[in-house]
Amino acid sequence: MSAQEELKKLAEEVAQCQLCELHYSRKNAVPGEGPHNATIMFIGEGPGFHENEQGRPFVGAAGKFLEELLSKIGMKREQVYITNVVKCRPPGNRDPKPEEVDICTRQFLERQIQLINPKVIITLGRYSMGLYLPHAKISDVHGQALRIKGRIVVPMYHPAAALHQGSLKPVVEADFSRLPELLSKNTTALEENELAAPSEADQSATQLSLF
Ligand code: URA
Repeated sequence: MSAQEELKKLAEEVAQCQLCELHYSRKNAVPGEGPHNATIMFIGEGPGFHENEQGRPFVGAAGKFLEELLSKIGMKREQVYITNVVKCRPPGNRDPKPEEVDICTRQFLERQIQLINPKVIITLGRYSMGLYLPHAKISDVHGQALRIKGRIVVPMYHPAAALHQGSLKPVVEADFSRLPELLSKNTTALEENELAAPSEADQSATQLSLF
């Protein structure tokens, strides 16, 4: 089966999933969307109200801001893969529970990452950052490019955090504005060093650059 077909099958599994309690309250599961061979993958936290209504990631206010940030660096959302740590809306937008994160990432997110095989993963917010940097503080590491498990991981503040806390908006904008330079440098570096890249199992993170 091709990666595209496998992703479609995975999305069907997400829609049927009953592995955690989030399935009781969901209207629509939100598997994620974007090209099956995207170079860049954004990982948010979990669907909110609008995402649950539409079954698509980042379609509310945070999504609009994400699209603005992308357009400022000459990119469209259709060019990147966008998904979340958990695929069903936590009721009342509560934080996802550790067991929900655990089940959903093992069952779906890790497979999506393997299938899409993005060079760069941009984590949006604390939950997706926690998958790669469980002990980091986002205020310390946002905007840094890190080599983790053979990929470039760039932790970023969640766009919704920037909408709620105005002082973070310029920080997020500045981190995004440096992405093109970072991507061109680091994706080349990764290709050149592909054989030397740490394996998927390697938990160690190497700092590549500090903005
Ligand atoms: N916030 C998220 O983390 N994900 C979405 O899909 C929408 C808002």
